[in-house]
Amino acid sequence: MNKITAAITAVGGYVPEYKLTNKELETMVETNDEWIRSRTGIEERRILKGEGLGSSDMGTEAVKELLKKRNIAPEEIECVICATVTPDMVFPATANIICDKAGMHNAFSFDVGAACSGFLFALSTGSAFIESGRYKNVIVVGVDKMSSIIDYSDRTTCIIFGDGAGAVLLEANTEGMGVQDSILKSDGSGRQYLHMKAGGSVKPATIETVTAKEHFVYQEGQAVFKFAVKGMADVSYELMQRNNLTGDDIAWLVPHQANLRIIDATANRMGLSKEKVMINIQKYGNTTAGTLPLCLWDWEKKLKKGDNIILAAFGGGFTWGATWLKWAYNSI
Ligand code: UT7
Repeated sequence: MNKITAAITAVGGYVPEYKLTNKELETMVETNDEWIRSRTGIEERRILKGEGLGSSDMGTEAVKELLKKRNIAPEEIECVICATVTPDMVFPATANIICDKAGMHNAFSFDVGAACSGFLFALSTGSAFIESGRYKNVIVVGVDKMSSIIDYSDRTTCIIFGDGAGAVLLEANTEGMGVQDSILKSDGSGRQYLHMKAGGSVKPATIETVTAKEHFVYQEGQAVFKFAVKGMADVSYELMQRNNLTGDDIAWLVPHQANLRIIDATANRMGLSKEKVMINIQKYGNTTAGTLPLCLWDWEKKLKKGDNIILAAFGGGFTWGATWLKWAYNSI
């Protein structure tokens, strides 16, 4: 019997309608369009507006699209893994809520928290379930409503982040398509540079923590930037080396969309020309766990069966990694 691999067989995505432009940010904090574009590559980001709406609502939309495209009933889905740092609630898991909202009543589901690398870590976990032969399908969702944890008076963070969701369906494949190899890494000592100070078990929410704005993203941008450039480029290069891949073998790089300069550095290290790099940071900003599946969603029609694709991410934790996969289908 042929080896079982985990192949992506459908992609869904969702971004909210509201566009927060650099121009609008100029009216909120001391910044300007030129600075944001040249330092990050971002022009606008999407914001989820509306009372009572959270990450699960965006994730559910992405999943519904994916199920429709693949023409598969929600009850057939066996497992759902949701990567997010902005769950609807501390518990239950957002994946549980997505299953309920999308009618995936036979799936077991849980969340993965690895910040911007969350989708990659969840993809690897879901793939292992399939490769083991135990499950025939798994949905992996990457979603974040970053606007719920951003301080819109802090110009160093509010210009970067946006809201959005992407989802992929993984199915067992015996043609050798899908996930080929992954290198995933984490280093908890990096937490000092990127975290949320309160709201966890160390410092539960109080009036004081709210007043001190400790429920927002805290980031030391320059330090994170340095680690991200090195981490994402090194791990992508290592993955290519150990699989004897050169830039010519790679059809697409799908990089985490945190900063255009980090993406460029990674592509250079891998020997890839700009045309092979998926970039949508200009329209969505950094959607944390949403960036990688949202790239696949935007590029799906251009992808061809057999394309070698490398996904790479770096984020809070620190967490980082790269995954090599072979695309499994041609879009009609
Ligand atoms: O996805 C999770 C992982 N996160 C990342 O990968 C983010 C990594 N970090 C970054 O992308 C960048 O560090 C930032 C985009 C956050 C900041 O860019 P930078 O080039 O590192 O800027 P900086 O912090 O070195 O600041 C340069 C200058 C400072 O002014 P002075 O001290 O030189 O006078 C800042 O005060 O730019 C100033 N500045 C701004 N000016 C206009 C900082 N933010 C802004 C702003 N608008 N929004």
